[in-house]
Amino acid sequence: MKRTDSTQATATPTHVHLETFGCQMNEYDSELVRSLMKQDGFVFTDEQERADVILMNTCAIRENAHNKVYKHLSELKKIKRQRPLVVGVLGCMAQNLKEELTEIQPLIDVLAGPDSYRQLPMLIRNALLSQEEGLDQKGLAVDLSEYETYHDVVPDRHDGVNAWIAVMRGCDNFCSFCVVPYTRGRERSRDAEGIILEAHKIAEQGFKQITLLGQNVNSYRFGDWDFARLILAVADVPGIERVRFTSPHPKDFPMPLLEAVVSHPHICKQIHLPLQSGSDRILGLMNRAYTIREYRALVDRIQALRSDIVLSTDIICGFAGERDEDFDETYRLVEEMRFHSAFIFKYSERKNTIAARKFPDDVSEAVKTERVTRLFDLQRNISYGRNREYLKAVLPILVEGDAKRSAAQGMGKSDGNITVIWDKQIVPSQPGDLLSLAIYDASSTTLYAEPPPVS
Ligand code: 5AD
Ligand code: SF4
Repeated sequence: MKRTDSTQATATPTHVHLETFGCQMNEYDSELVRSLMKQDGFVFTDEQERADVILMNTCAIRENAHNKVYKHLSELKKIKRQRPLVVGVLGCMAQNLKEELTEIQPLIDVLAGPDSYRQLPMLIRNALLSQEEGLDQKGLAVDLSEYETYHDVVPDRHDGVNAWIAVMRGCDNFCSFCVVPYTRGRERSRDAEGIILEAHKIAEQGFKQITLLGQNVNSYRFGDWDFARLILAVADVPGIERVRFTSPHPKDFPMPLLEAVVSHPHICKQIHLPLQSGSDRILGLMNRAYTIREYRALVDRIQALRSDIVLSTDIICGFAGERDEDFDETYRLVEEMRFHSAFIFKYSERKNTIAARKFPDDVSEAVKTERVTRLFDLQRNISYGRNREYLKAVLPILVEGDAKRSAAQGMGKSDGNITVIWDKQIVPSQPGDLLSLAIYDASSTTLYAEPPPVS
């Protein structure tokens, strides 16, 4: 087994392969991990076959995220039988399932939770050493911190157009279905000046968009700074064309933030506003701390200020105790709201959460599936209608690269974060370009664009 040691400049570097599962916060955390490990002399590879160390940055939010990780682990078991390999599990699953993972999965050498990445190079080096010596010592770092914000770690960013910045970590909301407060710990905000300085550096590196991340950005507080003040300062950074943020909580959406979105030309006219359920009874059980009336009033306020703001949401179907009439209320509210898009999930009971302790997961799998399918079909029609409203409009589009299906097509995003595709022979484009294109066709997920008519 090759070993990296910062004092041995000539040693063959240790190759690390890192796979990321789950949300944007995890993508961002993987950039932090790459940065911390590279500083320590580790080299990253996209090829699993070349790797001495395989790391998985995991997600625990729903059962299927878990299953993906377990499936991947069983594949690694085969590789580990054939050659020396250090396997590390990072992120939310490491945090939440520490007993289970170390017991059930003897193949795992290192477990590191979201607040322990500074220790990761040391843990990996120890695991490599222990393996060389024929020992089987596990490295475990899963303590949660009240302070860790990685403020001084410059993420190792891949994407050349969008850069993420986590402005806060953790969550104190304790929605009854959600595991995040347990896996990511208490809320803490990163210093505003550090964030703004980083935004300037990002702009100098040529990034055009910044997405500010937090489990509930409305809770951002650092001295005199709140989130509205912060996003305005980031949006003022020269060279940054677009600023997005995710996610705000509907219970405490601040007016100054709405005013910032409405008025600043570089803050995207797009808000992700997780609804979760259209039934007050279920919202109560979910501990969401708002009623449908309040949610509706917030959406009305947003739309009265600017009717072109693109709204998206998250909805859970089949939460514990959800009756047909609760689901009907959700269905009707989705019809009424006409969100541009929605992520629709089946409720997945998570160990240790309030719901898992208090409310039996009593909606059958078949009913959950039926409700998700019905809502999904409804939303697809709504998204289709919403996207057709853009026909003939000329929109500014930030180019991200090639379309997934064909390198002959370019792909970018509208200000409202809708995917746009065009023929590159007709519209040559480079990532980072800001184009002005006319929409000539639309599906429920995609807008199709061409050069605008010459007037
Ligand atoms: N089951 C299903 N969906 C969940 N979410 C969070 N926890 C669960 C769960 N236990 C969804 C919520 C949240 C999104 C990020 O994931 O809709 O807004
Ligand atoms: Fe989970 Fe609720 Fe916190 Fe979002 S606000 S991370 S859903 S507990």
